[in-house]
Parts: sequence; C-alpha cells; structure tokens
Amino acid sequence: MSLTTFPGSAHAARGPNSLAKVTMPALTEMKRQGKPISALTAYDYSTARLVDEAGIDLILVGDSLAMVVLGYENTLSITMDEMLHHTRAVHRGARRALLAADMPFGSYHGSVSEGVANAVRFVKEAGAEAVKIEGARTELVRALSDAEIPVIGHLGLTPQSLHRMGGYRVQARTAVAVDHLLADALALEQAGAGAVVLEGVPREAAESITAELEIPTIGIGAGPGCDGQILVYHDLVNLTLAPPAKFVRQYADAAALVRAALEHYRKDVEQHAFPSDAESYHLPAAERKPQKNSRDAMRIAATQGKA
Ligand code: KIV
Repeated sequence: MSLTTFPGSAHAARGPNSLAKVTMPALTEMKRQGKPISALTAYDYSTARLVDEAGIDLILVGDSLAMVVLGYENTLSITMDEMLHHTRAVHRGARRALLAADMPFGSYHGSVSEGVANAVRFVKEAGAEAVKIEGARTELVRALSDAEIPVIGHLGLTPQSLHRMGGYRVQARTAVAVDHLLADALALEQAGAGAVVLEGVPREAAESITAELEIPTIGIGAGPGCDGQILVYHDLVNLTLAPPAKFVRQYADAAALVRAALEHYRKDVEQHAFPSDAESYHLPAAERKPQKNSRDAMRIAATQGKA
C-alpha cells in the first residue's frame, strides 16, 4: 500500500487548520507533551465541518444524540442503525479530527464477539476511527484492540447505567469509590484502551487518575485536571433547550439567535417583505410582454377552445 497522502482525498485536512490528521497515538503524544486535548460531540455533516475547521482534536458522535437531536428521554433507546447513520454524516464533514463513535446501549452488552461485530460496522460502514464504550469491559476492549479498533473507555457517570445509578449522579464520592475508579481506569489502559472519558466525578478523583494513566483522560464534569475536555455541542451553543448542568459553559446562545431569525422570517413573509425583487429571478427584458394584453388573448383563446 502507498503511504502517499493525496491532497484532494476525502481526509486531507481542510481550511485554515490544515494541521496534521489527529490519530489515537497522537492523543497519547499530546498527553506526553502536556498539550490539552479539545473534544466535542457532533451529529451531522455541517456541525462536523464547523467543529473540525475550528481545530477541535476529537469529534465524538455521542449517543447523547438520542436526547439532543432525536428527542428521546435518555440514551438507552438509540439503535445501531441510528448511530451509524449519524456517524456517516459526521465522517463526511470531519477531516482533521479523530472521529470516534459511541457504541449504543445493547450493542456490546451481550457477547464479546457481538460487541466486536458491531464495532467493526462503525469502522467499515461509517468511517469511525475509534469507538467509545461505557464501563470497565476489559475483555471487550482487549478483543477490539486485537481487531485493530481503537477504543475510548468511559467511566464515572455512565449515562447508559442510568437505571443502575438511579439517576444522573456524580460518581466516586468516597475514597474507596475513587480507588475502584482508578482500578477500572488502569484495567482499561492495560486492556488496550487509547483514552478514557471521565464523566461526572470529583476533580480530585480525575486528577489522581490522570496522573496515574499513560493514556489521556478526557473530562466532562470532571474538573480542569484531565488531559482533555469534552462537551456536548448542543450544550456549548445553548441548543439543548433545557437548563444546563453545573459543568457546562455556554459559549454562545444559538437558541436565541435562531429564534430571533425564525421570528424575523415569519414576520417578513406575513408582511410581504420577503422575498424582495433582488431575491427574485427575472425574465430577460426581451421576453417581457405587456402582461394585460397577452393575458386577455390567452383567456379568449382558452374560451374558444372549450366552445
Ligand atoms: O454521548 C456523549 O455525548 C458522551 C460524551 C459527552 C462524553 O458520551
């Protein structure tokens, strides 16, 4: 196989951030060099382009899409087919960022071979470069690594464990629980995970785990001590249409912007202010007949034709 990179190829970096393609090993190297890793979710082509062109290192097609895009109550009901559909769209828009896909609930909770087969679909059918799985499923992580599929672990508040946790609650709030979390993180690393998302844990716990691991930690609601940070895109731009969690920082108010634009458009249509003449197509001057006469002639011809 050739090692040449073709500039026009689907995955040559695009736009002002034409930096090198981010790979899973590159994330570990960033940790080694003390460079913070930026990560965000995306669920469609246009968002993926914006996120990628902003220079974000890691794009996750999170199963949070179940809630923020598809309007489900939680992440549990989203299917493989829905996740694959959105991962394909994001793949078409992402070039530089590492593209990871969340494996949905039920797609890796049975046998290891079923988990591997589903992960293969993300790589083969949707262009994912890594998959993310929740919990300390070391046997599966080992099997995925053997199948050459990079894995991102996810520990702490794991939304697919909603019913076991009894709600979305901050995890690892005792020294013993922090030790368990650390043991899980180390086990994932040993099994071959390339990174671990730490969600909804005290910053002190995240800091000590980050210090113990060689692979990067990506935090969400885990304080500033992780090797990288991830947010849900809709939270960051205020499109979640729900009160934000404590850890969310809203960098823009897209909901207000879009609402104002939509109301403006509706009023313009109602007041005949849209479209204007400049927004209309025109007949060439030579084709413009005096309207009244030609209409009358057409009406007469139509009446005679009926007689
Ligand atoms: O589903 C998701 O969006 C996630 C992250 C925010 C980590 O799992």
